[in-house]
Amino acid sequence: MTFPPRARTGTARQPALAVIAAVASNGVIGRNGELPWRLPDDLRHFRELTTGHAIIMGRRTWDSLARALPRRQNIVVSRQAGFRAEGAIVVASLADALERVEFPEPAFCIGGAEIYRLALPMAQTAYITEIARAFEGDATFARLDPAQWDVVKREHHRLDAPDGFDYDFMTYRRRSAA
Ligand SMILES: NC(=O)c1ccc[n+]([C@@H]2O[C@H](COP(=O)([O-])OP(=O)(O)OC[C@H]3O[C@@H](n4cnc5c(N)ncnc54)[C@H](OP(=O)(O)O)[C@@H]3O)[C@@H](O)[C@H]2O)c1
Repeated sequence: MTFPPRARTGTARQPALAVIAAVASNGVIGRNGELPWRLPDDLRHFRELTTGHAIIMGRRTWDSLARALPRRQNIVVSRQAGFRAEGAIVVASLADALERVEFPEPAFCIGGAEIYRLALPMAQTAYITEIARAFEGDATFARLDPAQWDVVKREHHRLDAPDGFDYDFMTYRRRSAA
């Protein structure tokens, strides 16, 4: 299945950018290079949103994946000259990543912590799975500033398991400058 390039609604120079992340109540997103939780419903949600689009990720997040994610344009950001990632394009900066996007908008920044920090100021939309439980970890995501972001959708769920927890699929849109 191929996804042809199409007209961009972002700026003339770059495609619209969305950030997608799952975040614990204490801001944690990762531990030892992995997700700290097992939440299959969130993986399904991630797949549904990102399929058919470009996914931009840091090299460490790439390392955490077993392989390139199918039916998506995989783009890996790394400072290492000559880094190779099978099934993905490797670029040296987020700006280069956006330049290389060919799949339909939005392009998704899928993490991790370092790349989210670069991408968030440029993103128009943020899809955040807000997990109502704290987890230990070493990678974090900054809380979205309510002065800059509006909630446009909230979908509540609960992981039905002995150690289950509540979580919300949130969609935030950046407030347009008045
Ligand atoms: N909960 C979630 O939604 C979610 C999503 C994704 C990832 N995660 C978790 O987040 C953790 C990984 O995050 P992380 O912050 O350690 O790593 P990361 O953001 O995935 O990748 C960091 C790497 O990206 C490259 N990089 C960073 N800034 C760059 C720049 N300005 N220019 C060029 N390359 C740059 C560097 O690669 P080189 O070292 O190759 O130069 C750097 O080591 C893992 O635990 C993962 O499971 C969680």
